[in-house]
Amino acid sequence: MFETRVLSGMRPTGALHLGHYHGVLKNWVRLQAEHPCLFFVADWHALTTDYEKPGALQEVGTDMVIDWLAAGVDPNQATLFVQSLVPEHAELHLLLSMMTPLGWLERVPTYKDQQEKLADKDLTTYGFLGYPLLQAADILIYRARYVPVGEDQVPHIEFTRELARRFNHLYGREPGYEEKAKAAVKKMGSKKARLFNELRTKFLESGDGEALKRAQALLDEQQNTPRGDHERLYGWLEGGGKKILVEAEALLTEASKLTGLDGQKMSKSYGNSIGLREAPESVAKKIRTMPTDPARVKRSDPGTPEKCPVWPMHLVYSDDARRAWVQKGCTTAGIGCLECKAPLIESVLAELAPIRERAQPYLDDPTLVKNILANGCDKARALATDTMRDVREAMGLSYV
Ligand code: TRP
Ligand code: SF4
Repeated sequence: MFETRVLSGMRPTGALHLGHYHGVLKNWVRLQAEHPCLFFVADWHALTTDYEKPGALQEVGTDMVIDWLAAGVDPNQATLFVQSLVPEHAELHLLLSMMTPLGWLERVPTYKDQQEKLADKDLTTYGFLGYPLLQAADILIYRARYVPVGEDQVPHIEFTRELARRFNHLYGREPGYEEKAKAAVKKMGSKKARLFNELRTKFLESGDGEALKRAQALLDEQQNTPRGDHERLYGWLEGGGKKILVEAEALLTEASKLTGLDGQKMSKSYGNSIGLREAPESVAKKIRTMPTDPARVKRSDPGTPEKCPVWPMHLVYSDDARRAWVQKGCTTAGIGCLECKAPLIESVLAELAPIRERAQPYLDDPTLVKNILANGCDKARALATDTMRDVREAMGLSYV
């Protein structure tokens, strides 16, 4: 069942904005209905860059979870938890660090990029270099199959796949592996075993991807597979050792089409964002005072929507008829900029109203979020414990 598991994390950086909503959160809400999903507060990750001034991570993290819930992430569908409350992530990070070539970490593009971008911080630390490895541990510990991330994170997922492969290659060949794998096939029952063997041969001899998928589906259907056999069969199918860790795939999250108030990427640090739980008056004022096409100095000057930061908002919030109205009105000076913005104010407020409403009970009663996270942590921990048992065993560390 771990085959379609989705996992993603977000650093606690403060109140989320409409860019997060249209980029990440709507995507999470969609995914939670289709897959078993795990979403977590990546608080240790925040420390890799902000170790000097961590701030109140537990408050910022909790507030971020309220934003998730407000956006429609449903704790009955998805598992929500906090990284630092599942310390198994740290254990896997440590064990993986033993077999991670230093060059792999140094070559991750964000390593040099971020050091240059965040030049005011001293990022020549062990933790910062190891940050992609911590992320790999986050993913591998849940044997996640899909990881929704933005483009900048794709190299990290690639790195995670390479690590999983290296780990399985190093530690997946237990003594007597072949006999154990063959015995596990037999246990499937003669009919299924025959089909499995056929599909395996097809895949190994001709690289038939369809056959591989069908054989994997066959394994996923199996109930009560004895511990260890699932990983053995998965690896055996592809002609390798036991698949203790699963290679995850990035699910590329499309960047939000919504730009900030100044037409740049929406970001809190640029001061051009609209907060998810911002008061309606403040939202309305921000949109009313947004800059417009600089060529439209006077009401009677015609403008060009493509040169105006208001236009991308119409692309997100307006239908064809309204866009046509903007195009015509703007280029002929038929409408004024405030007129053009009025329906947007309405649309944005209509979108934010239910979000603020959903957040309210969590703000009124902080124990609600605490309980959601406590439950989520329990569930996550159970999954993590399971993987760690296999990892310890594979590395010769199963004393009891
Ligand atoms: N590194 C991610 C970011 O900065 C957050 C993150 C941490 C993450 N662990 C993860 C995302 C695991 C996906 C999966 O945005
Ligand atoms: Fe921008 Fe609309 Fe004004 Fe044209 S009319 S400049 S699109 S705000």
